[in-house]
Amino acid sequence: MQDNSRHGLWKGNLSFILIATGSTVGLGNIWRFPYIAGENGGSAFMLVYLVSIFLIGLPLIMAEIMIGRKARANPIDAVGNLAKENKSTGAWSIVGIMSLLSGFLILTFYAVIAGWSIEYLLDFVLGAFKETTTADAGKTFNDFLKSPSKLIIWATVIIFATMLIVGLGVKKGLEKNINWMMPGLVVLLLVILGYSMASGSFIEGFKFLFAFDSSKISADSFLAALGQAFFTLSLAAGAIIAYGAYLPRESSIPKVSFTVVLSDTFIAIIAGLAIFPLVFANGLNAGEGPGLLFVTLTTAFSNMPFGSFFGFLFFAMLTIAALTSSISMIEASMAFCIERFKWSRVKSAIVLGVIVWFLSLGTVFSFNYWSEFKIFGKTIFDSIDYLTSSILMPLGGMFMAIFVGWILPKKISKAELNLGTWFGLWFNTIRFVTPLLIIIVFLSKLGFIG
Ligand code: TRP
Repeated sequence: MQDNSRHGLWKGNLSFILIATGSTVGLGNIWRFPYIAGENGGSAFMLVYLVSIFLIGLPLIMAEIMIGRKARANPIDAVGNLAKENKSTGAWSIVGIMSLLSGFLILTFYAVIAGWSIEYLLDFVLGAFKETTTADAGKTFNDFLKSPSKLIIWATVIIFATMLIVGLGVKKGLEKNINWMMPGLVVLLLVILGYSMASGSFIEGFKFLFAFDSSKISADSFLAALGQAFFTLSLAAGAIIAYGAYLPRESSIPKVSFTVVLSDTFIAIIAGLAIFPLVFANGLNAGEGPGLLFVTLTTAFSNMPFGSFFGFLFFAMLTIAALTSSISMIEASMAFCIERFKWSRVKSAIVLGVIVWFLSLGTVFSFNYWSEFKIFGKTIFDSIDYLTSSILMPLGGMFMAIFVGWILPKKISKAELNLGTWFGLWFNTIRFVTPLLIIIVFLSKLGFIG
């Protein structure tokens, strides 16, 4: 059995947990989760979200890590080779292709949004926000989006940093940098949580997230929750398979998966508990949508003691969180170029970085020059978001579950996961529950049900 990876292996469980949590914790936790929870009635959303995370997310993340480690290859060859080795068709590699493509495409808009946090971090340092109103902050945000040059500069910085880290390799780039970025992120988040507890309406924020109100559960919150679960766990986007390919054989997949899923959920909740109390303390609206951080929270900071300092810390944290995710979106493509085309890591990083950079202009211009250019009523940014979050990822996740549940011999999963009596539960979930739930949600998203 081939038991190494040409790219190197993570040092151990902790390294993997940090790197995988780095992938899962990102804009999805700190920017997307709070505003989606806010839009979907807070607590009502939470319950459905937690069910999606543990019923669909956890079994799938285990499956993806297993595929990666078993095949020790990039997602396309990992799924393809496992299928062929087990007397099925190499056509299954389509699942890998969809995943790899998702991660790649997501990076083209993720880098742009991550760039916004650099702009805001600097704005707070320069003291740009003082006793601002929501209307003013809204205008500042809109003006910023209308300025392609700024968006391009910051997206370029993010893409450059991302490609630099993956270009340095699994050990010297990813592992080494994650070792300071993840602890840094957690410390910053806790500092901001402390600030929020001290000066925000903590109880109100807490109630907003946790006070259970079943009347607010709707079909829409179910869809939003599932979509969020996929996004926040970096599922069906190549990242987890790619990282799994570097996991040492001795590591327990269930253990690391559980820790990663729990950490990701925990950090999303802490981010919510840090953000909402500040919003409420300033009498602002939690249902703001994508502008929650850049408009609402920014307004809150600007009206609070030491707000500029904590605003700076907040956006610094957001930038770090985004970077630890962006590197995971491209590692699958990196591994593919290195393994298939025999390119060096540096060459792969340069070529991929240039392509991502060009494609990111589509998202940049969606907010200004090309804001009127629509494909089926969506800007380029919305189209890429829709194609990945609503089509490629749910479909990819469903096929992944079917592949592991029905094609890959049961004995392989049994040996890889080493779950003991829990194996049956995992196996039946991934066989029946996961694909079925995804199909239902997928069809309703496309408008066939409900
Ligand atoms: N999970 C990350 C977040 O919450 C985003 C992310 C990282 C991602 N890698 C991914 C999303 C791959 C989809 C696919 O921000």
